[in-house]
Amino acid sequence: MTAPREHGAPADIQSGDAVSGTHPVQVHRYKAAARINHWITAASLILLAVSGMSLFTPNLFFLTGLFSGGQWTRTIHPWIGLVLFFSFSLLFVRFWRANLPVQADRTWLAKIGDVLRNRDDDLPELGKYNAGQKFVFWSMSALILVLISTGIVIWDQYFSPFTTIEVKRLAVLAHALAAIFAICVWIIHVYAAIWVKGTFSAMTHGVVTGGWAWRHHRKWLRELVVKVDGSKAAEIPHPHSATGPSSSPRRPS
Ligand code: HEM
Repeated sequence: MTAPREHGAPADIQSGDAVSGTHPVQVHRYKAAARINHWITAASLILLAVSGMSLFTPNLFFLTGLFSGGQWTRTIHPWIGLVLFFSFSLLFVRFWRANLPVQADRTWLAKIGDVLRNRDDDLPELGKYNAGQKFVFWSMSALILVLISTGIVIWDQYFSPFTTIEVKRLAVLAHALAAIFAICVWIIHVYAAIWVKGTFSAMTHGVVTGGWAWRHHRKWLRELVVKVDGSKAAEIPHPHSATGPSSSPRRPS
């Protein structure tokens, strides 16, 4: 069963999202292009963090060995920065709509204690992303913008004639702070991807199980199983209805 992709489809549903009626049910979450885009972004952020830290403090200078020494590290760091910027920009275009905040995000955040205790029976039904994922998305967007703009200011090889030493001092400070925040946000992102079991396969194989989608992103799953012509409501019953999920044979496995 494919997702409704016509005009007016919910913002959550992106190209390639689909439910397959296999056993167990598979839900397609990311197309290959989105996954390649994501992993290029991830690899460039890791390379930037390592090369950036090696230039940040003499204690970590030994890490420049990974890039053939200090000169090379300094040369390639800004170029990898450009790769991150353009790669993340593409991710941004792909994902921004599904990351727009909605009312359910507030409720989910208000019940963050339940989320952390893995008690999800009283949580709102969520679209493709939860508020935590949306936080990662928007903060990475802002931080990468700061990193690229300050990075250009301090890229002396090409841009030194266009700036002053005072501006550069501020830019160096903002660049280092943004990098520290970006690394923290990245750690949160990876921790969450590992903590929520079953998430990794979304970015490795592009699919999640029906059970995972049901548990964590039920609204998105409901929207996906609506027939393409939109004439039929989602086949998955509401958990509070008489034929709730526990009694329903159609609950995804
Ligand atoms: C080793 C590093 C990383 C791992 C293991 C990882 C893992 C994942 C996984 C498993 C997902 C799927 C989550 C889901 O669909 O629910 C995901 C989504 C995503 N990742 Fe990563 N990621 C990494 C690095 C990064 C970096 C560096 C960025 C950005 C700079 C990034 C940005 C995103 C975005 C934007 C999404 C889509 C979620 C959203 O839009 O809110 N990831 N990642």
